[in-house]
Amino acid sequence: MNFQNLLYSAKDSIAHITINRPDKLNALNYQTMTDIMEAFMMVSADPQVKAAIITGSGEKSFIAGADISEIAELNPLSGKKFSQRGQEIFNFIESLNKPVIAAVNGFALGGGCELAMACHMRIASENAKFGQPEVTLGIIPGYGGTQRLPRLVGKGRALELILSGGMIDAQEACRIGLVNKIVPYAGMKEIEKDGVKKQVPDLTATKEALIAKAVEIAKSIIRQAPIAVGLALEAVNRGLEMTLAEGQKVECDLFGISITTDDFTEGTNAFLEKRKAEFKGI
Ligand code: COA
Repeated sequence: MNFQNLLYSAKDSIAHITINRPDKLNALNYQTMTDIMEAFMMVSADPQVKAAIITGSGEKSFIAGADISEIAELNPLSGKKFSQRGQEIFNFIESLNKPVIAAVNGFALGGGCELAMACHMRIASENAKFGQPEVTLGIIPGYGGTQRLPRLVGKGRALELILSGGMIDAQEACRIGLVNKIVPYAGMKEIEKDGVKKQVPDLTATKEALIAKAVEIAKSIIRQAPIAVGLALEAVNRGLEMTLAEGQKVECDLFGISITTDDFTEGTNAFLEKRKAEFKGI
């Protein structure tokens, strides 16, 4: 696949997707959104891939939002289409039956925060910053932010972020439940600026530690029965759109399906025989 603004590789059953427009802080232009859709279609279609990690290139930014130079050209009709297209792409990510982890390595603003929220989990390096700055541009979040943020952090905190357009740091994002974990700075390094030497966080090492942590989480999921993992993702995703009673009905149905798999037989037998289960994903 020829991606223009994205790097894709797969290792140990994990797809690594890197948004790659570092000179624009990985802002999401039309082409980048196309690349993202195609990358996640590859994740979906490749049976060797069991999980995906998405990050931004460089050490400063995950994604600094949708590309403002393209937003500036929108009219009401194209604006609606722009929003619909973004929502469809991010919905596709959310509805995958393989876990997707956002490794947030810097600014996650606007569409960047929205993409991270469409992933199943978010971990952030200590230098990460989150925000929905759309109101500062005279628009509102259009890639699902007004809907996913309140579901993740509650209405009051979501509105504070969306209405102020302000940013929060990784600590605050973790405190309010927007991210699952923070990966702390991996040491300091010396730099020289205007003839003055000073110690600054080593962001290169920090990003390596962030990706290593995301891989560790992905591997802890990949070890489990893949169909059960997919069904659990589906139960949680669908259930959040329903009443408790409706969601529980979905859970019963999917629980029943999990019993039909060979991995169910293997998992329960392995426990009873006091050995490690070997799941085959069937
Ligand atoms: N769309 C298009 N270009 C963007 C962008 C975006 N969302 N965010 C950053 N860029 C570009 C800048 O225009 C600049 O390009 P240039 O060098 O060709 O002028 C480059 O990325 C570097 O950004 P810069 O603003 O110089 O970096 P900074 O460290 O001073 O500031 C931010 C970083 C993230 C605070 C700032 O870039 C910003 O506010 N970006 C927009 C965030 C936003 O509103 N996102 C929501 C969009 S709906």
